[in-house]
Amino acid sequence: MSSENKKENSPKAAHTCKCLNRRTFIVAGVGGLLATSVGGIYGSVKSLYPTINYEPSLKAEIGLPEEFTGNSMKLVQVGGKKISVMKGDNGLYALIRNCTHMGCIPYLSDEEQVFRCPCHGSVFTLEGDVIKGPAPEPLYRASITVNPRGMVEINGAVVENDINLRSKPPYSLKV
Ligand code: FES
Repeated sequence: MSSENKKENSPKAAHTCKCLNRRTFIVAGVGGLLATSVGGIYGSVKSLYPTINYEPSLKAEIGLPEEFTGNSMKLVQVGGKKISVMKGDNGLYALIRNCTHMGCIPYLSDEEQVFRCPCHGSVFTLEGDVIKGPAPEPLYRASITVNPRGMVEINGAVVENDINLRSKPPYSLKV
């Protein structure tokens, strides 16, 4: 027997072989099974919580434009916000009735024609301007437009209270 043949047949030569041994095979198999199981469990759990948005919509159709030709105010609820649809010199506007101090809902004082906040006493004009604090800024107005279906639509996600912007579209609507 040559010295080369002796080397190949020795136990040391068998350990240096790069072929898949039983331990590596089992570890790879268990790892694969675990990865598949985790993926399956994740998929099953995720299917229990479908990706549906349960937040109320911030858009609402509130009627036809001709329904707002009078001077009466209309109170609507859009996405959990109370909004007064009012008529001013520049047309309709949608006043968000959340006090700019801490978010309480000012009520309309009919005899004074102002909004009074019940929480800390702020007073606002019907246009939303602050007459008395602590409210730091005017009430916000939501976008009010006529949508492609011909309906007056309020979008509570688009708001403004800057005195120079709020009297222009989309915060005011001629009807
Ligand atoms: S929340 Fe309106 S005055 Fe404080």
